[in-house]
Amino acid sequence: MKRTKIVNLLQSKTPIDHVLIKGWVRTRRDSKSFSFIEVNDGSCLKNIQIISDNTLENYKNITSLSTGSAVSVSGKLAESQGSGQKWELIAETVEILSVAPETYPLQKKRHTDEFLRTIAHLRPRTNKYGATFRIRSELSYAIHKFFRDKGFKYIHSPVITGSDCEGAGEMFRVTTLALDNLPFKDGKTDFAEDFFGKEVNLTVSGQLSAEMFALALGDVYTFGPTFRAEDSHTSRHVAEFWMVEPEMAFCDLKGNMNLAEEMIKFLTGFVLEECKEDIELFAKYVDKKLIKTLDNVATSDFKRLPYTSAVEILKKSGKKFEYDIEFGKDLQTEHERYLTEQHFKKPLIVYDYPTTIKPFYMRLNDDHQTVAAMDVLVPRIGEIIGGSQREERLEVLENRMDEMDLPKENYWWYLDSRRFGSVEHSGFGLGFERLLMLITGISNIRDVIPFPRTPSSIEF
Ligand code: 4AD
Ligand code: MG
Repeated sequence: MKRTKIVNLLQSKTPIDHVLIKGWVRTRRDSKSFSFIEVNDGSCLKNIQIISDNTLENYKNITSLSTGSAVSVSGKLAESQGSGQKWELIAETVEILSVAPETYPLQKKRHTDEFLRTIAHLRPRTNKYGATFRIRSELSYAIHKFFRDKGFKYIHSPVITGSDCEGAGEMFRVTTLALDNLPFKDGKTDFAEDFFGKEVNLTVSGQLSAEMFALALGDVYTFGPTFRAEDSHTSRHVAEFWMVEPEMAFCDLKGNMNLAEEMIKFLTGFVLEECKEDIELFAKYVDKKLIKTLDNVATSDFKRLPYTSAVEILKKSGKKFEYDIEFGKDLQTEHERYLTEQHFKKPLIVYDYPTTIKPFYMRLNDDHQTVAAMDVLVPRIGEIIGGSQREERLEVLENRMDEMDLPKENYWWYLDSRRFGSVEHSGFGLGFERLLMLITGISNIRDVIPFPRTPSSIEF
């Protein structure tokens, strides 16, 4: 008999005579003549209740089944006699596939997130993390659906690159050179002897590749892992994270903001609709205001305002911030959160940032002080999206690169795109884990990614 997933079984409209399920024991309690076993197979939050009566030949073993043990159960799906569930499974056979000893680290009590991080290999077996990673999967699907329905093409940008898109220099080196025996030339490491014959890193963003494809296919997006060697010990930074990066030809900053807003609303609405049961778990145990926040994100028009206005609001706020703010300084998380949570009470898009705090590729505005950048800020997180209209004018781009001391020869191919058929184009990067934080109410980014990578931490 073929195994049925519990998620499908629980949606049944009618009783079923013969079914087979496989899963892991969550809890067990015994009465005089029955053993009630709650089994979960990861397909949904809910368990199915197995009723096994004492006439089963291995009943004695059944009544010693411990949490975490694996079973294969065949029997009859029947309307439940007890309260709390519609269906239960009357067992005809309970095959014990493996027994988890009493030392199994996940017991019935609630464990802290800190503890569960130390057993990241087991935490997907808990209700909360099971729900998190089912939502993560649904959300990935929703991203592809959103773009495909709009005619965007999915581009696989390379993970190994030679360029530092963001210009922050926070990159992981990729090399096959023996670190204890480096080849030297003129007092420096000789990368000519390295695998690629030059210095190479893990990508910090797929944007530069995406731009090349937008200038050929029109509307494209990337969705893949990116890497940053920032020494940030915050609840919003990891060294390896996933980024969604749409790039659109024939599109200005306004069109870019429109897409960002539409995408966040679509994704939020999608999860509210498709992951109801899992979301309810977070609304109950993690963030009591979650549904209100998500409804607010899904339905309110995002406020849009220039960086200079944002700075004025912050200065006039009378709030004591840890970091001072004035024109030319980057907004810190405390500033971003004040604006979205307290001042506007909804998501907002800040645009036209000072040239001096943004990367080389952003389009210079006519004031020559600002670039056509935009960041989307949301409650509880702050920046969730960073993007811009790109500098499509070759001369302006070259001047900017000179000012920033960037080696133009390394970017010859990028500059080429401004020589041949260059057009107005725009794009942005959405931090996938930050979106998951927004949607689940989980406050630490380490808890929305299967195996987080942070400074000094890579156990799994
Ligand atoms: O603002 P960022 O640095 O923008 C770019 O990389 C652009 N090249 C994107 C583009 O225009 N195509 O990063 C984009 C987003 C941030 O808003 C944030 O949500 C997320 O990526 N992000 C991180 N998420 C987790 N951990 C980190 N260390 C992150 N750094 C950025
Ligand atoms: Mg940014």
